[in-house]
Amino acid sequence: MPTPIVIWPDKVLSTRTRPVTEFGPTLDPLLEEMMESLRAAEGIGIAANQIGVSLAIAWVGREDGTFFEIANPVLLETSEPVSLEEGCLSVPHEWEQTPRFSKVRVRYQDRTGAQHELAAEGRLAHVLQHEIDHLQGTTFVDHLSQLKRALIRKRMQKLQRERAEEKAGGHVHTDDCDHD
Ligand code: NI
Repeated sequence: MPTPIVIWPDKVLSTRTRPVTEFGPTLDPLLEEMMESLRAAEGIGIAANQIGVSLAIAWVGREDGTFFEIANPVLLETSEPVSLEEGCLSVPHEWEQTPRFSKVRVRYQDRTGAQHELAAEGRLAHVLQHEIDHLQGTTFVDHLSQLKRALIRKRMQKLQRERAEEKAGGHVHTDDCDHD
């Protein structure tokens, strides 16, 4: 069973992750665990804190369907502000227009500790901004209006309750339940 993805609002998602200081094979089990959860959820990126590990490392999906890992990423430059429809594995079924940039330049380390600099645009730039946000303790809902955030918070709390009830094997009430 893949490790479950943490649902917003959860403290681990709003806490800045600590930097990766040990590189090499020591990171492999965590990266594998993250990838397993990412694949099960059919996502295009995942940050370590989304499976409850507060460490600055994430998987980022390229448009060709492959993934690469970023550790200790830094957003060096952003340009061309845009509004993009965005969702998150930690905020299921919610999609909102979110302010982003269409071009970014980032610096990060790979699992061996080697430094890289990358200029990206389009979807890749979008995923990079989303994952770097996660590692800094920011979820995309933090970019939305207070009203939208409050509504999403209510829906996530309902979802959490339903999941807890399901786990307990109880009856799950849904709004379209028409029997008594
Ligand atoms: Ni996310």
